[in-house]
Amino acid sequence: MKIIITGVTRGLGKALAEWYIANGHTVIGCGRSGAAIFDLRFTHPEPHTFDAIDITDSTRVSIWAERMLGVHGTPDYILNAAGISQPSAPLWTIPAQDFSKLIDINIKGTANIIRAFAPALIEAKRGVIVNFSSDLGHSALAGQSAYCASKWAIEGLTKSLAEELPHGVAALTLKPGKVKTDTSSTWAQIDMDGALDAATWAQNAAPYILTLGSLQNGQTLNYPAS
Ligand SMILES: NC(=O)c1ccc[n+]([C@@H]2O[C@H](COP(=O)([O-])OP(=O)(O)OC[C@H]3O[C@@H](n4cnc5c(N)ncnc54)[C@H](OP(=O)(O)O)[C@@H]3O)[C@@H](O)[C@H]2O)c1
Repeated sequence: MKIIITGVTRGLGKALAEWYIANGHTVIGCGRSGAAIFDLRFTHPEPHTFDAIDITDSTRVSIWAERMLGVHGTPDYILNAAGISQPSAPLWTIPAQDFSKLIDINIKGTANIIRAFAPALIEAKRGVIVNFSSDLGHSALAGQSAYCASKWAIEGLTKSLAEELPHGVAALTLKPGKVKTDTSSTWAQIDMDGALDAATWAQNAAPYILTLGSLQNGQTLNYPAS
């Protein structure tokens, strides 16, 4: 399978990439950290492709997508794992630029990737878009209003997209539960005792994702199931 992964430099995206590569799939990934991308390129040479792309930059995303589609053809899966959270703080104390940054990455960045790659999937009449959501896309947490808002938005965006896509192409959200990463380390109020590390989570989540297709279009899925 050919799998696009955003947020491939750390956390869940990186753990998924490593599992897919170890199991014979081709990974096309992006993240902002040049050092981490260099390391991924060095460790996992062609046919895998890793580029330092900020998903909030719609122009660069569309140029990158055109290049990746030219080199690799239509991907089978697009995993929109890139995202950030921020230190817990009441909404009225979050500076406007910090609020905007989170919205730009978690919502608009995801939309940029979809805008750039979805036409190829639609033309091929196949492919699955997996947008990473959260339990906080269905609930509230004091101190994480911006993150919650972004994940509620991802649910609405994905369910609407699912209704727009032609038969054969699917969009769904995946809630990864609690996994120890940089993002989850900012959720001071959430008990992370017993949370998996990303590599352990990916061992089962990565093959599970490859079972997802048209039947799951528009659904919100949990992995691990809860
Ligand atoms: N971990 C959990 O327990 C948990 C639970 C629920 C939902 N989630 C969701 O799962 C997804 C992955 O989270 P994670 O825990 O793996 O987070 P993480 O370890 O903090 O990794 C986030 C990834 O996103 C990338 N990223 C951030 N901003 C970006 C940008 N503007 N352009 C491109 N890449 C960007 C980061 O790379 P650079 O810094 O190099 O750009 C990094 O690779 C997120 O959507 C998160 O909200 C996680």
